Amino acid sequence: MKVMVVGKGAREHALAWKISQSPMVKKVFAFPGNAGISEVATIPVIEDDSVEALSNFALNEKIDLTVVGPEDYLANGISDVFESKGLKIFGVNKAAATLESSKAFAKEVMESAGIPTAFFSTVTDIKSGDDILKSSTYPIVLKADGLAAGKGVIICNDYKTAKRELSEMLAGKFKDAGTKVVIEQFLKGEELSLLLFTDGTHTKRLLFSQDHKALLEEDKGPNTGGMGAYTPVSFADDNLYEKVDSLVTEPLLAELKKRGIDYRGVLYIGLMIVDGLPYVLEYNVRFGDPETEPLMFMLESDIIPYFLGCIEKTLNKLPEMKWKNGYGATVVMASEGYPGSYSKGFQIDGLDSIEKGCSVFHAGTCLDHNGRIVTDGGRVLMVTGSGSTIKEALEKTYKSVRNISFKGACFRSDIGYRELKREEK
Ligand code: AMP
Ligand code: GLY
Repeated sequence: MKVMVVGKGAREHALAWKISQSPMVKKVFAFPGNAGISEVATIPVIEDDSVEALSNFALNEKIDLTVVGPEDYLANGISDVFESKGLKIFGVNKAAATLESSKAFAKEVMESAGIPTAFFSTVTDIKSGDDILKSSTYPIVLKADGLAAGKGVIICNDYKTAKRELSEMLAGKFKDAGTKVVIEQFLKGEELSLLLFTDGTHTKRLLFSQDHKALLEEDKGPNTGGMGAYTPVSFADDNLYEKVDSLVTEPLLAELKKRGIDYRGVLYIGLMIVDGLPYVLEYNVRFGDPETEPLMFMLESDIIPYFLGCIEKTLNKLPEMKWKNGYGATVVMASEGYPGSYSKGFQIDGLDSIEKGCSVFHAGTCLDHNGRIVTDGGRVLMVTGSGSTIKEALEKTYKSVRNISFKGACFRSDIGYRELKREEK
């Protein structure tokens, strides 16, 4: 098979890395790709990254399967276009992508399906928003309705901050994404991510994983796209999985079917576990980043049959996925200034001196005119390792991280701290 991965981050690097190991796959393409992805996939010359150009390339090159990373392609209907041209694509269609591209829609679906989630109201004007903020208990969570690159959620500790943030959102801080805002009850608990493959009826689960969204140690500082992740999570056992299945996944799939939405692809469920019960914080219609990196690192099964099972609605014919023993961990190395503004183009050293058994998935990197790998984004590298314990996985990964350098490199040194504490007990 010829497979194409769409996207240019570490998630796509990890997917291309895993796909390239499949005995079913002869050639992997990735577009737009980055300096790291080019080590496991060919970056083709395509005139631009439009859906039209990508589908023309897939037709001409006779690509057997396209796998999509980023949500904006899905929200723009890349899967609908590919399927209309008879091309196989792993990634949900435009209607299904609304589950991520509109938080108000996602909350409305959860409410209709009776899925446990934080209490909420949706507002479009400051007057009705202000009435809600005045009668709320704090902290409270404000969420821009649309896609805001992981920056549209703000936790406010008091009325004054909430009013200011809400006014700014409605006035265009996140452009059109913030013309509608969800005001949500703050939930206190432990956050988990669960990714599932689904053909709309059947599911195959990946392991539970945990992301670290805050920029700084001890979960301080602004929210980011994620500063590190690990899998599995020891307290997330089969019992919790069964609860998520019956309270969240089954009602969601039934509700989507009722609405005529054909959901085939990966479903990312962002959960807050409160007193042992799962509450949905968000749905994403794509692989999580950085969760995908340790998950692909630990997945033993060939992933291609699962992609095809979702597309062809035959997921029930496949066995459960097999996983390597132990833990996978990913530490993000970011540019100084991220998630705010940052400079690019700094040379990256030490990529050849990482620990044996570790992989570096590239997020924001490119080759400069001298062919050197340089920084090209906010999140730059996602260093990934494994071990029989979380301690071992983290030690190995951090050793690799400390061998890599670029100007202004930032990383959290406490990734996996909750699991480490559980393991020490
Ligand atoms: P979201 O994009 O909706 O997942 O929100 C981003 C992050 O904000 C989540 O990963 C949580 O850390 C936090 N968050 C979102 N909603 C809530 C909530 N209702 N209570 C507490 N934290 C939340
Ligand atoms: N790691 C969070 C996300 O992918 O949305």
